Amino acid sequence: MTDKTQATQDDRSGTEEENSLTVTDNRTGKTYDVEIKDGTVRAMDLRQIKVSDDDFGLMTYDPGYSNTASCRSAITYIDGENGVLEHRGISIEQLAEHSNFLEVSYLLIYGHLPTEDQLNDWIYQVTHHTYVHENIKDFMSGFRHDANPMGMLLASVGALSTFYPEAVDVGDEYQRHVSAVRMIAKMPTLAAFAYRRSLGLPYVYPDNDLSYTGNFLSMLFKMAEPRYEPDPRIEKALDVLFILHADHEQNCSAAAVRVAGSSLPDPFSAIAAGVAGLYGPLHGGANVAVLKMLKRIGSTDNILDFLEGVKEGNERLMGFGHRVYKNYDPRARIIRGHVDEVLEATSKESPLLDVAIELEKRALDDEYFTSRKLYPNVDYWSGIIYEAMNIPPDAFTVMFAIGRTPGWMAQWLELMNDEEFKIARPRQIYTGPREADYVPLNQRNGS
Ligand code: CMC
Repeated sequence: MTDKTQATQDDRSGTEEENSLTVTDNRTGKTYDVEIKDGTVRAMDLRQIKVSDDDFGLMTYDPGYSNTASCRSAITYIDGENGVLEHRGISIEQLAEHSNFLEVSYLLIYGHLPTEDQLNDWIYQVTHHTYVHENIKDFMSGFRHDANPMGMLLASVGALSTFYPEAVDVGDEYQRHVSAVRMIAKMPTLAAFAYRRSLGLPYVYPDNDLSYTGNFLSMLFKMAEPRYEPDPRIEKALDVLFILHADHEQNCSAAAVRVAGSSLPDPFSAIAAGVAGLYGPLHGGANVAVLKMLKRIGSTDNILDFLEGVKEGNERLMGFGHRVYKNYDPRARIIRGHVDEVLEATSKESPLLDVAIELEKRALDDEYFTSRKLYPNVDYWSGIIYEAMNIPPDAFTVMFAIGRTPGWMAQWLELMNDEEFKIARPRQIYTGPREADYVPLNQRNGS
């Protein structure tokens, strides 16, 4: 049981007085009682703590929001100390073993597992919204020949808002629903178009007779054959990868979706903000960084030197560490279980696999990493699988984005229904100059 869970349970059992925080402001000697609810105090309750009537009042300072709950959410539960991840209460292990990506998407969006009829209807709807407007192809061809697929995806997701202007009616339940269907359905099409464009290959249209994941593989890899037949082992492994990436509560990209969505643009624009948040190497871009790192290490002989460099602070061990998990990321464990199967299906030998296995072993035995609770995260193994599937590193983060789309939509839908909805507008501690004079251009000395 985590400290936070403990606190929540204590809150429920305690009296009003017990469920409060008494703070004394040593600047004034005044004492205040602040309510504790669900293991938190409300930051606005601190505003009453002032040194004088014209004082603004006490704020909290939390760079990177390390200790700030920004919303109430019923979508995803993580217990980082014990390596637990649940969506709508169901463990990621059960979902990865028994479910499929579209069913998990439904679960995230609607809050419960679908009945058979609901699932069939959902699959039908998503399958029949996979096509994108033909103008998207023209739009894609405007990118430079070597454009990064993630940059193309970011722009084209944002551009969807121009094709569906009615989506801005975010108060309309039907619009919210159809936007969720469109976003989940079109993301693989946009991703595949971006990938084919980056390789100079013709686009492949969706094949509605294939599964969600099988159709995506077809749009990526179909060449001259009349019909693309996905290898069931690859299709299953990729579907599991999508499930593992489907949501992860208030991470950088989900927070970006909520912050952008809080000014009430259409959801496609909010999701584009999420894609941007995912792009960087500390979030979704970490799987690319892992592969680059493994290639640079090159051989198991170089691992000790590499780890010394990490410990001296010259660089980070990519694919290790997490803001929330202080234990083995459960997603990393599940992905690890699919690596050998995918390599077998693609008849590939991954020269990096030995390096990855040995590097993980050495790091898990090293006091530097164990004392900081640094364990492999979801990105440690995904790059090896994607590479075995012939997906180029530039497109790895695009794969993450497809998986994360239902999570972003679920977070956005929850925000739209939030009783405490407010536009996101953090505060700051101003550190710049005040009341400075404007200096005419010819009198400035450059300082
Ligand atoms: N390699 C070496 N040292 C590390 C690493 C790492 N990967 N991650 C954290 N540390 C050290 C860090 O230097 C610090 O040490 P000290 O206390 O001596 O200063 C300590 O561990 C705490 O690190 P932090 O930066 O305060 O932790 P954070 O919660 O702010 O950062 C993180 C989390 C994921 C950004 C970080 O662990 C990291 O950069 N990992 C590598 C990038 C990566 O794999 N990202 C993918 C995250 S999972 C996928 C996703 O959800 O996006």
